[in-house]
Parts: sequence; C-alpha cells; structure tokens
Amino acid sequence: RVAGLQLADREPFPGRNGKGIHRESDSDEEQFGKVHVTKITFFTIFLPIFPASCRKSPTFRSEILVMAEELKIATGSKEERYSLLYEQMKALLADEVDEVARMANAAAMIHFTFGFFWTGFYRVKGDELVLGPFQGPLACMRIRYGRGVCGTAWKEAKTLVVPDVEQFPGHIACSSLSRSEIVVPVWRDEVIIGVLDIDSQELSTFDEVDQQWLEKIIAII
Ligand code: SME
Repeated sequence: RVAGLQLADREPFPGRNGKGIHRESDSDEEQFGKVHVTKITFFTIFLPIFPASCRKSPTFRSEILVMAEELKIATGSKEERYSLLYEQMKALLADEVDEVARMANAAAMIHFTFGFFWTGFYRVKGDELVLGPFQGPLACMRIRYGRGVCGTAWKEAKTLVVPDVEQFPGHIACSSLSRSEIVVPVWRDEVIIGVLDIDSQELSTFDEVDQQWLEKIIAII
C-alpha cells in the first residue's frame, strides 16, 4: 500500500470533485459544528496487485487511485487547528511504524493545515542533520551539530522559537524569504533522532501555543 498526498488539480490524479483542496460546508458541519473545513485529499494506491505494464498506464493511474484519508482543516483559532490536526494525525499514524513515512505525512499535514512556507524534518546522521521528508522549496541538505537554528536546537535539546531569523546568530538561510522559524527536537527513547523545522515568510509567526502543540504532535511521530 502506498499512501500519498495529491492535490487534485494536478493531473493525472484528479480529486473527488476536481479540486484537491476545497472548501466544505455542508456534510462536515454535522461533525464539526459550524466550523468550515478545508479538505486535502489523500489517496491509497493499491499498485502491487497489478502487473507492471498495467501500472505504467496513465489511465490506470488516474482511475485506480482510491481515496484513503482526508485532512480536515478548521478555519478557527490556532488552537482549534492544532487540536483537529492532532486528532487526525494520531489516527493516521496509528498503524504505520516506518519513521520516514510517519514524518512525511506529518510534514504534509502540518504544512497544509497552516500554509507555512516550509515544513520538514532533518534526521540525525552521525554529527550532522540530514534533510528528511518536507513540504516547500528546496532546502539545505546537511546541517552540522550546533549550527543554525536546527543544529542549535539539537545541541541544546530544546525547542527554539525564532521571531526574526536575522537576529539569530548563525541562522542558515536556505531561503531568503524565510523570516521566522520554530525548531522542535524529535525524541526517541531519550535520544534526539531529528528535528522538525518550520519556516514562515512573516515575522513572529510562532509562539508558545505553537511550541506546546508541536511538541505534543512530535511526541506521537
Ligand atoms: N534555517 C535553518 C535551516 C533549515 S531551512 O530553514 C529549511 C537553520 O538555521 O538551521
């Protein structure tokens, strides 16, 4: 089974209603009260049961995709968004043991819930952080221990909230468009195995609410 995020306006993987991200107001109101939600459609691809020659066909690929999950995004407060995100992430990750797969969907869910500029993971490999699953523009692939915001969060073993990246000594600018940042260490059995890094194009995007929720989210990845 291969699961992937697919924005439906990108052929050949059209979404249920022709738009992968869409506003929803009727059916979801029953479940989420008056909160309007945005849906991002996920698909499950049951490819292995078909021969390779068949799987290469564009027609096959556009028709055999089966929708597995939907990401619902509350448009209310930051807390409401995180709360709904957390519940969905818990459910989605419950059956998956692969670390990269978990990080990949976690990055996508966080990224599209808030529309951040860059959301992704760096994984500890020796004395470096190596780029892991992410959503957003191309990024630096390796960061040394203690370098930049990511390497410093790893070294200090704590979440770093940076309201203005230009004021952070040694900040690594993978993109000049990034203005503020939060980095949350990922723990496994008392050891840091990576960091979650989120960049925003606005100053002061992240605060203690983001820190608390992201630490809670990271604990289930
Ligand atoms: N700004 C980070 C580097 C990673 S990118 O932002 C994706 C840092 O200073 O560690």
